[in-house]
Parts: sequence; structure tokens; C-alpha cells
Amino acid sequence: MISRNNKEKLIGSTRPYKRYCYVIASIIALLTLVNMSAFKSESRLAKFVNPRFSKQDSTISKKAFLQVYRVLMSPRCMNCHPSGDIPLQGDDSHLHFQGVKRGPDGTGLYALKCSNCHQSHNLPGLHMPPGNPKWHLPPANMKMVFQGRTPHQLALQLLDKKRNGGRSVKALIDHITSDTLVLSGWTPAEGVSKPPLTHKAFVNAFNEWINHGAVSPDPEKK
Ligand code: HEC
Ligand code: HEC
Repeated sequence: MISRNNKEKLIGSTRPYKRYCYVIASIIALLTLVNMSAFKSESRLAKFVNPRFSKQDSTISKKAFLQVYRVLMSPRCMNCHPSGDIPLQGDDSHLHFQGVKRGPDGTGLYALKCSNCHQSHNLPGLHMPPGNPKWHLPPANMKMVFQGRTPHQLALQLLDKKRNGGRSVKALIDHITSDTLVLSGWTPAEGVSKPPLTHKAFVNAFNEWINHGAVSPDPEKK
């Protein structure tokens, strides 16, 4: 039996190269792990991109997502999916007035709650707040940012349960089909535009994207 001390001595003195082998092996293992996690979001997609989807499907899927993207990036959606902690307003998506902020749960910081001004229904008149009983932003720990995302990035994000509020693909489709905040985009406050597609066309494009493989558009060339 070689005691631990003796073993260390052996490795340390008579066979120093062995120690390097361990170090190199560990580095390789670490790099492999890092690499694998980098491709994780892609591989999640792989379960959709299976052999029953053809190259033609992939083209249809990407094209459908670009239609979906036009709606997601429209002010009626993006104003509640900002990259910062302040909601956006109007067709030019300027920062919300009065220093309104997200707060931890998305309903506003401290006493400045969304529901102070946003009622259960739209108030009549220009520059009046649109309404919905649950009007608020996504929470601080799950911001679901649309603003600034490219089609490639946003498609991957929507399918990533760690970033979409833990939604399955089915839950995602249910959400965009019937959630009242999503629907609110098509009954906007006075004087602002509706999203560029009808709600029906949006839902159809979303389903087409999923049913043809949920392929994300190619990364944009820098
Ligand atoms: C009043 C603010 C508000 C508006 C307007 C709004 N959303 Fe959202 N959206 C939210 C909140 C809050 C959540 C998170 C809800 C949850 O997880 O329960 C969310 C979640 C989502 C999600 C699921 C999570 C994700 O990012 O993958 C999608 C998709 C979505 N919204 C799409 C839309 C679309 C499309 C529109 C416009 C037609 C829209 N939203 C308009 C507040 C809003
Ligand atoms: C002090 C009152 C007040 C508070 C508090 C408030 N809002 Fe508003 N909000 C308004 C008014 C008024 C408008 C309409 C402004 C306009 O059209 O010029 C508006 C517009 C918006 C819009 C733009 C809607 C669109 O279709 O472009 C969003 C998004 C929004 N608010 C989100 C929020 C969120 C989220 C909160 C809470 C975190 C909040 N607001 C808190 C008064 C308020």
C-alpha cells in the first residue's frame, strides 16, 4: 500500500509529467462543458427540428417568425417588454413619464403602482391610460425583453423556458392566443396604432412557425 503522502511524493518528484496530464485533462473537460452549455439553447430547438421537417419547412418556419416578430416589436407589445426598467409609451416608444418603474413584480415601484392610473378598461380621450385589470410589466427576475432583440435572438428566447416564464410551447401558444394583455394590443388607447397584423393573422403565423419546426431566423451578419 502506498500512503497518500508517499503517493503525492511519487507524483510530485519522480513523475511530474503526470500532474500536468491531470491539469490538461481537467482543462479539456471544463472546455467541453462550457461548449456544451453554449449550444444548449440550440439543442433545445433540435427537438423541434427533427427529420420530419424538411428544408422547405425550415424556410416556411423562418418566414412565419418574421411576421410574428413584426407584431412583437410593434409599440403595442414592445412598450411593455422594454430592455430597461421603465415602460415605454406611444407609437414612438418613449420612456413612460412620471418616473414610473417596473418594481420587483412588475406592478410598479413603491407607491407608484400601474393600477393607480391604468384602470380595468381604456379611459376615453387622447393620452389617457389604456386599461386592463392586470396591467403590469413582466417581473424583475424574468423581464422577457423584446426591445433590441434581433429575430434570431427573440425566437430562441421565446422557446427558452428559463427566459419565457417557464412556458411549454403549448402554453406559449395559449398565451399569445388568449391572454388579455396580448389582446389589449388590438384595442389600444385612442390615437395610437394597432399591431401590423390582425390578431388572427398573428396567431396563424405563430402556429405556422411552430408547426414547421420552430426554426429561428439565421443570426444577423455583423
Ligand atoms: C401591459 C403590459 C403588456 C402588454 C401591452 C403586452 N404584454 Fe406581453 N407580457 C406582459 C407580462 C406582464 C407578461 C408575463 C406574464 C406572465 O408570465 O404571467 C408577458 C408575457 C408575454 C409573453 C410570454 C413570455 C415570453 O416573452 O416568452 C409573450 C409571448 C408576450 N407577452 C407577447 C405579447 C404580445 C404579442 C403583445 C402585444 C400584442 C404583448 N405581449 C403585450 C405584459 C404585457
Ligand atoms: C401616474 C399615472 C400612471 C402610472 C402610475 C402608470 N401609468 Fe402607464 N400610462 C399612463 C398614461 C396617462 C398613459 C398614456 C400616455 C399617452 O398616451 O401619452 C400611459 C401609457 C402607458 C403605456 C403605453 C401603452 C401603449 O399602448 O403604448 C404603457 C406600456 C404603460 N403606460 C405601462 C405602465 C406600467 C407597466 C405601469 C406600472 C409599472 C404604469 N404604466 C404606471 C399613466 C400611468
